[in-house]
Amino acid sequence: MDKDSAEKRIPELRKIIEYHNRRYYQQDAPEISDVEYDRLMRELQELETLYRDDELATSPTQRVGAVPLSRFASFNHPQAMLSLANAFSSEEILDFDQRIRRLSKMDKMDYVAEPKLDGLAVNLIYENGLFIRGATRGDGTTGEDVTQNLKTISSLPLTMKRMVQYPVPEFIEVRGEVYMERQPFSKLNHRREEEGEEPFANPRNAAAGSLRQLDPKITARRPLNIFLYGIGSVRGISFNRHWEILQALATWGFPVSPLIVQASDIAACISYFEYIGSIRPDLPYEIDGVVLKVNDLVAQEILGNVSRSPRWALACKFPAAQANTVIKDIIVQVGRTGTLTPVAVMEPVNVGGVMVSRATLHNEDEILKKDVRIGDTVVIQRAGDVIPEVVQVILIKRTGREKEFRMPHRCPECGSEIVRLDGEVAHRCVNLSCPAQIKEHIRHFSSRGAMDIEGLGEKVSAQLFDAKLINDPADLYFLAKNQLLKLDRQAEKSVQKLLDAIERSKTPPLDKFIFALGIRHVGERTAKLLAGHFGSMENLMQADVTELTLLNEIGPEIAQSIVEFFAEDKNRKVMEKFRRAGVSPQIKVSSSNAVLHGKSFVFTGTMESMGRNEAKTLVENLGGSIHSSVTSKTSYVVAGSEPGSKLDKARAQGVSVISEEEFLKLVDR
Ligand code: IVH
Repeated sequence: MDKDSAEKRIPELRKIIEYHNRRYYQQDAPEISDVEYDRLMRELQELETLYRDDELATSPTQRVGAVPLSRFASFNHPQAMLSLANAFSSEEILDFDQRIRRLSKMDKMDYVAEPKLDGLAVNLIYENGLFIRGATRGDGTTGEDVTQNLKTISSLPLTMKRMVQYPVPEFIEVRGEVYMERQPFSKLNHRREEEGEEPFANPRNAAAGSLRQLDPKITARRPLNIFLYGIGSVRGISFNRHWEILQALATWGFPVSPLIVQASDIAACISYFEYIGSIRPDLPYEIDGVVLKVNDLVAQEILGNVSRSPRWALACKFPAAQANTVIKDIIVQVGRTGTLTPVAVMEPVNVGGVMVSRATLHNEDEILKKDVRIGDTVVIQRAGDVIPEVVQVILIKRTGREKEFRMPHRCPECGSEIVRLDGEVAHRCVNLSCPAQIKEHIRHFSSRGAMDIEGLGEKVSAQLFDAKLINDPADLYFLAKNQLLKLDRQAEKSVQKLLDAIERSKTPPLDKFIFALGIRHVGERTAKLLAGHFGSMENLMQADVTELTLLNEIGPEIAQSIVEFFAEDKNRKVMEKFRRAGVSPQIKVSSSNAVLHGKSFVFTGTMESMGRNEAKTLVENLGGSIHSSVTSKTSYVVAGSEPGSKLDKARAQGVSVISEEEFLKLVDR
C-alpha cells in the first residue's frame, strides 16, 4: 500500500476498531468474530509500523483491552524454557568450568557473565519484527498468555528496530526477566497499605502479581520493567556467540542489562561475581546472583542439557540476608478495613545490618503451611525494603513446649465475631463499629494527605473516641468546646486550636475528601481521578459500576468497592451528617483539575519515576494529550535520560523542552 492510501486507511481502521471495542467491551454485543477483529488489528499494526503518525499514541493498537479476562489462556513455548543449575561458592564455580572444558574437549573456555535478576521469566514471540504474544515461564513447557499485560510495560518494544547489522528475523522467541525496581516497589506498597490492601512481600512477588493481573488496566499502573537476556527458537538469522545475541537484542531496541560482560576465563567470572556482589546494595533493583553462560554456541550445543537445565550455564547465588531467632509471641493487628494480620514478636536480631524484632506472618494459611509456633526458633529473612518474614522453623530446636497459634474467633479489639470471606486468605472483623477500625479510620480521615486537620493525630483521635465524643469522622464537626475541655491534657488554647482546624477543614478539595472517606481500594490517586471526573460528591455517589469502569484506571474491583461503600446504610448516614455539618468539598477548576487543558506533550528518553503509560494517563487525566512526534503545535517536549532525535527537533522548532523534574512539578507530583 502506498503512503497516500495508508494515510486514509489508518484513521479508518482506528474508527472501525474503536467501534468494535465499544460493541464488545461496553455494550457486550460484538458484531464480528475474534479472528476478524484480530485481522483488523494486525492490518492497523502493520500499517503503523510502516507509517508512524502523530496520533499513534492514542491508536487502539496502543490501548490495552478494557475488560478483564476470566483466566489466562495457556501458552506452549515453541522451545522449552529451562532452569539453571546453582552454585554457592567459588569452588563450585571452578568445578563447573572444569566439567565443561572436559566435556567439550576445549582447553580454553570463555563466558558471558550476567546479573541474575530477581523477577519472573517471560517468553516473547516476535514475527517479522512485531510483538505477537508473550507468556510467563510456567512449568517451562506451558506458561500463561499475558500478552496484553506485557504490552503495558513501556520499555518493551512492540516492534523491533530494523538495523543493517542484524536483519529482523521472521520468527524469534526473546527471553527475559520482568522485574520491579526497589523504589517504585516501596511506593506501591505504601499506596496499598493506605488503601487497606495487603502489601507485597518483595519486589519479585509484586512483579509476578502485577504481570498476572486479569485486568491489564491494573498492570498498566504498576511500575514494571524488563531486561532481555536470551532467545529460544529463531528463523531468519543465525549467531555464533551468546554475546552476539545480546548485541543483536540491544540493536533491535530491547533493554539489555548494561552490567553484562564477556569474561575470557573462569577467574574473570569469579571476580565479576565478587564485583556484582559488592555493588548489589546500590543497584535500583534486586538481584540474587550472577549467571555464567558459555559464549560459544557450538560448545553450548555439544554440552546440551541435563534434566531441565543446560550444562552450559550456571547460576552463582549470593547468600541471602538471613538470621535465626526465637518467636516470643504471635500478636494480631487489626487494620482500618478490619483485616487481621498475625505478627511474630521475636528476640531482636541483626539481619544483614538491620535490627529486627517483628516479622509478618501474613495470614493463618501461611502460619499453618510453615507450622510456626510460639517458642519456635526460626530462620528469618529480609527481602528488599520490607518487614522481614519467617522463612522456616528449625524443627530440631523444638522442645515440645511450643504453643500452636490459632486465629482468634473474636476480634482482639471489639470482641466481635471474626469471619473469613469466601475466596479471601484474610480473616476480618466485619463489625463496622470496631474501635480499632474506627480509631484507624478517624486517624486516616484527619491525616495530612486527607483532610489535614492539625492537632488530630492518633492519640487525640483515640482519646475522643474513648471518651465517646465521636463515633465516626462526621461527629468531629459537632464537637463542643466544653466537651473537649473536660478531657485530660486539653486546655483552652489547644482546644480552640483544634476546633479552628476542624472548622477550616469544612471546605476541603473534593479529591482529599474522597480519599479521606477511606473507601477500600481508593487511594490518593484514584480519589483525584474521581474528583476530576465527577466534580461533586452527589455525582460520585450516584455512579454505578459501569460508569465507573469507563474511567481509565478504574477496574471492576475498585468500582464495586465504591458502589458498595455508598450503598451501605451506615455510610449514607455519615455522608448526610457531613452535609448537615456544612462540610462542602470544593472542586478546584484552575489548578489541579484541567491544568493541562489543551496542552500537548511529546516524550523522549527514559523517565526515572514512571513509565510512558503512567505519564500518559497522568497527562490525559489533567486534560492534556500525548503525541509521538514534535510539531510546531507541541506545547512541551519532556526529555528523560538518553533522549532521542525528538529533542533536536524540538530545539530546532523552538518548542519548550522540560526535564522530568519540571514535568513532575507541572503535574503536581
Ligand atoms: S538464563 C537456559 N539469564 O533465573 C537459560 N536466567 O532458573 C535459562 N534469570 O527465572 C535462563 N536473570 O528468568 C538467565 N541473566 C539471566 C537471568 C536469568 C534471571 C532467571 C530466569 C529464571 C531463572 C532460571
